Amino acid sequence: MTDTATAPVPTPSSGTDVLVDVRGVKVHFPIKRGVIFDKVIGHVYAVDGVDLQIRRGETYGLVGESGCGKSTLGKAILNLEPPTEGSVVIDGTDIASLQGEELRRRRKDIQMVFQDPMSSLDPRQSVESLLVEGMRAHGLDTDGAATKKRLRELLAAVGLPPAALMKYPHEFSGGQRQRIGIARALSVEPKLIVADEPVSALDVSVQAQVINLLDDLQEEFDLTYLVIAHDLAVVRHISDRIGVMYLGGMVEEATADDLYAQPLHPYTRALLSAVPVPDPLVEDAREQILLTGDLPSPSNPPSGCRFHTRCPWRQETRCDSERPPLRVLDLPGMPATHKVACHFAEGIERGEIRPHTVTPVLVEPMDDGLGDDPFMGPASVTEVL
Ligand SMILES: Nc1ncnc2c1ncn2[C@@H]1O[C@H](COP(=O)(O)OP(=O)(O)OP(=O)(O)O)[C@@H](O)[C@H]1O
Ligand code: SF4
Ligand SMILES: [Mg+2]
Repeated sequence: MTDTATAPVPTPSSGTDVLVDVRGVKVHFPIKRGVIFDKVIGHVYAVDGVDLQIRRGETYGLVGESGCGKSTLGKAILNLEPPTEGSVVIDGTDIASLQGEELRRRRKDIQMVFQDPMSSLDPRQSVESLLVEGMRAHGLDTDGAATKKRLRELLAAVGLPPAALMKYPHEFSGGQRQRIGIARALSVEPKLIVADEPVSALDVSVQAQVINLLDDLQEEFDLTYLVIAHDLAVVRHISDRIGVMYLGGMVEEATADDLYAQPLHPYTRALLSAVPVPDPLVEDAREQILLTGDLPSPSNPPSGCRFHTRCPWRQETRCDSERPPLRVLDLPGMPATHKVACHFAEGIERGEIRPHTVTPVLVEPMDDGLGDDPFMGPASVTEVL
């Protein structure tokens, strides 16, 4: 029961086909130092002004290199990391306005599938107990026979035999454990699944099976997906639309087909130019765009366009002083779904602006008191660049 003060706030996207509506979201982590009193000496600008809409039944792929803010954005959508600024509206309700029972019920609607199924599944619990736990918490474990039936259905849906119910996580392979993680997410009948690197801990041979499983389950269970990955190949086939992040911001967004056929942002061009093409003739003729310079620290992001310290098309004006918004380009035949955050994307696409050698711009790391650790995980996409 909610009183007026805690009642969810209806928003303009209520009743539309937009399930997730993220507006101007920023997540800034304070960097603290001090022995007795924590003093805030700076911030990690993990997510720094992102707009993102996901329609019901859609799969949205979010890609970008390690540390660009993908997981933090995913957590902001789940309200696990409340935004510093901006709003997240799920199914017409601003999640910041939810409290108590309403928040708990809404949490059921959004489930997460994690990268490492072993660490996200309690090794002391049998599969049956892992699956029933969530159902019980949300009042879905009403009678024994119905629950048993539901558990068998869930296992069948993810391709596991009923005997799996009595086993423990360590008795399964990595791919099977991820199937259990997916079954657990499905057990509470969610609307949205945020899958954060769902296959990157798995063997390549198993990755496609799990991706195909997610694809098959989508229609059967009426699901909407946000799939986060550092690997463009993982999201390509499953996603309807893809967003490319760089240092806390969205730099390009398009349907999967448009993004691969015509990448328009210099960063996306570089990422895609590094993906090998199976056809040897095309592969030999392919021009690779090599990025120089390290990924700057999100605690001290470059001014203007965040990519200007590494961009082969960087211009003298605007690039280092004016942050480009995500916009539809002024080019013939550009669909409204294809958006790019680059001041000069039209000129680059028309070939009027040519790439040039980039002198790496030194971005001084902030003195955050943590020595050389730039708040970064291991490089991923850039390893191939
Ligand atoms: N709780 C936190 N406190 C401080 N900094 C954080 C916190 N969580 C994340 N960060 C920092 O925010 C930035 C974005 O992190 P995030 O985990 O969102 O990146 P990511 O794109 O998911 O990277 P990866 O591909 O490695 O998973 C990183 O620099 C990270 O170190
Ligand atoms: S705005 Fe400038 S620096 Fe940024 S991507 Fe475009 S050309 Fe490169
Ligand atoms: Mg992550």
